[in-house]
Amino acid sequence: MRPMRLLLALALGSVWETWAQSIGTTTSLFPSQENANTPALFPMPPCGQFNLEEATIDQMQQAMSNGTLTSQQLVLCYMQRTYQTQEYISSLLQLNPDVLSIAANMDAERKSSIFRGPLHGIPFTVKENIATKDNMETTAGSWVLIGSIVPRDAHVVARLREAGAVLFGKASLSEWADMRSSNYSEGYSPRGGQARSPYNLTVNPGGSSSGSAAAVGANAIAFSLGTETDGSVINPAERNAVVGFKPTVGLTSRAGVIPESEHQDSVGTFGRTVRDAVYALDAIYGIDPRDNYTLAQDSKTPNGGYMQYMTGKDDLKDATFGLPWNSFWTFVDDEQKTILLDLLALIESAGATIINETEITNYEKIVSPTVWNWDYGTTRGYPNESEYTVVKVDFYNNIKTYLSELENTNVRSLEDIVQYNYDNDGSEGGNPWPLGISAFYSGQDGFLASLETKGVKNETYVQALEFTQRSTREGIDSALNYKGQRLSGLLVPPDIGQTYQTAAPAGYPMVTLPAGVHSNTGMPFGLAIMQTAFGEAELVKWASAIEDLQLTSGNTIRRMLPRWHGYLERNIPVLNV
Ligand SMILES: *[C@@H]1O[C@H](CO)[C@@H](O)[C@H](O)[C@H]1NC(C)=O
Ligand SMILES: *[C@@H]1O[C@H](CO)[C@@H](O)[C@H](O)[C@H]1NC(C)=O
Ligand SMILES: *[C@@H]1O[C@H](CO)[C@@H](O)[C@H](O)[C@H]1NC(C)=O
Ligand SMILES: *[C@@H]1O[C@H](CO)[C@@H](O)[C@H](O)[C@H]1NC(C)=O
Ligand SMILES: *[C@@H]1O[C@H](CO)[C@@H](O)[C@H](O)[C@H]1NC(C)=O
Ligand SMILES: *[C@@H]1O[C@H](CO)[C@@H](O)[C@H](O)[C@H]1NC(C)=O
Ligand SMILES: *[C@@H]1O[C@H](CO)[C@@H](O)[C@H](O)[C@H]1NC(C)=O
Repeated sequence: MRPMRLLLALALGSVWETWAQSIGTTTSLFPSQENANTPALFPMPPCGQFNLEEATIDQMQQAMSNGTLTSQQLVLCYMQRTYQTQEYISSLLQLNPDVLSIAANMDAERKSSIFRGPLHGIPFTVKENIATKDNMETTAGSWVLIGSIVPRDAHVVARLREAGAVLFGKASLSEWADMRSSNYSEGYSPRGGQARSPYNLTVNPGGSSSGSAAAVGANAIAFSLGTETDGSVINPAERNAVVGFKPTVGLTSRAGVIPESEHQDSVGTFGRTVRDAVYALDAIYGIDPRDNYTLAQDSKTPNGGYMQYMTGKDDLKDATFGLPWNSFWTFVDDEQKTILLDLLALIESAGATIINETEITNYEKIVSPTVWNWDYGTTRGYPNESEYTVVKVDFYNNIKTYLSELENTNVRSLEDIVQYNYDNDGSEGGNPWPLGISAFYSGQDGFLASLETKGVKNETYVQALEFTQRSTREGIDSALNYKGQRLSGLLVPPDIGQTYQTAAPAGYPMVTLPAGVHSNTGMPFGLAIMQTAFGEAELVKWASAIEDLQLTSGNTIRRMLPRWHGYLERNIPVLNV
């Protein structure tokens, strides 16, 4: 990313020189190949006196309040880390040219005793499909929207600015949040290049919020936002060993987010700890008149935010979890099953009850027995029972509404985007490979499928919406009600796409925690909890309890630092293993 290097060089300039001297770093920004096999590959330099690697938001806050760190220093340290890692993982799509002055303002406020809260001065990124009304682009990774002007900050961005968080930049993503193609390279966008997981650069980094999760996993940012329609927060979170929070549809406003489906889109958060992800969630959730789905949360959200539900392992004695075995667990490979069952045994030994006899009712009709497949209804011969039938129609309509508010662009419809992609095969891969590009092997078949519907909400659509919502909600709710007892949550393996695929049409929330690593690829996987609509308080409670257990058990099953396997490889597409 040459422009990015230039920008960084300019931004760092003389500030960098004096500052680098002051922190006395001796770490090379560009590690040589010699240390390829040493454990200390891409070591993270300290941030002045402060050890930023794996630092929590609370620790950053404390260091800023006791005077050992400023927000500007934090920004410079994350710039340095980005400079060190960007050539490998491309987690940042655009650096905010105003980030240092925003941080300076936050430092000045703190000096004059204005303290906005736990995110004051903390740097973050947002997935690049989330609008920012500033000196950055909002394009979903596509050249077609470059130069377009958004009407305002997305609601979630405005809320984070109010909370004092410092917008560092826009995270790379799978273009159009994966709406455009059925066979594509996860994490790739024409503007952002190929985002990669720092755990193994050759394989699918998880998506579509790939850069958001990879940057948090690589310690290149404090926390990040992503968006999910079906898996796009949970999947990259678990593949980068971070905590991912996908809220109930309607808890976080989608106003100002380049859409996929109004019925399923949700803005979620990534952190290295549950607490960090919940700080971000607390800052962004709430009613927004520009997204009327958020009206549904009225009276269902707590006064004072979700942080109050954070707890420790001792509370696990009050928990009863369900394992939907035949619905999900049965698909897990042996190695992962062994590691996750060890973790489940640990949770039981802390006093929790685990019930292995509760299922997602009707799961056979909801999800494929083999792979993630959001058109499984059609595969079974019933397009009127398929999630994709809904998403295809929604996208056509929702993108038109989003585009209608943009200035400085002639792009007004999906038709315009599709034509642009055909006209720019070399960069956007409108046609299938080899006419187009290898990242989009099947061209833009997802867009063409949406285009074919013309956004008409015919009987097939109406039935599919009703079926997918009802069957998934009933399925999860009945699994949560075991013989009349309300369970604390469903523990599920999020490496199995059918888990988040069941939560997606339901609009139900999920959280994933780092839980282990595959020995054949070095790629992490998680343990997730599912809940009913607006069950976030329970998710926070049990995720924090399990995390506390992981951290204090002396058991190493949790997050491990990235190992940068395959860091000299540049394969596109990434491998789906
Ligand atoms: C300031 O806080 C940081 C983070 O907790 C800590 O590491 C450091 O020792 C503290 N320094 C002083 C002078 O209190
Ligand atoms: C997807 O694309 C890859 C090449 O990137 C190809 O090998 C594979 O067969 C394609 N899969 C399908 C289902 O078309
Ligand atoms: C939101 O408003 C639109 C019209 O602007 C309406 O069609 C839709 O049903 C409303 N949705 C909710 C959840 O209130
Ligand atoms: C759950 O029950 C299934 C049989 O339905 C069994 O195969 C599996 O081993 C059980 N899992 C646990 C963790 O007990
Ligand atoms: C609804 O539209 C879809 C896509 O355009 C089409 O395949 C389907 O047959 C239509 N259904 C009805 C009942 O017309
Ligand atoms: C879908 O269509 C089939 C007929 O092709 C019908 O039997 C079935 O009940 C429909 N499903 C729903 C959810 O309406
Ligand atoms: C990284 O992934 C590739 C593709 O699956 C695999 O061949 C390689 O062994 C992995 N690297 C490590 C160190 O696990």
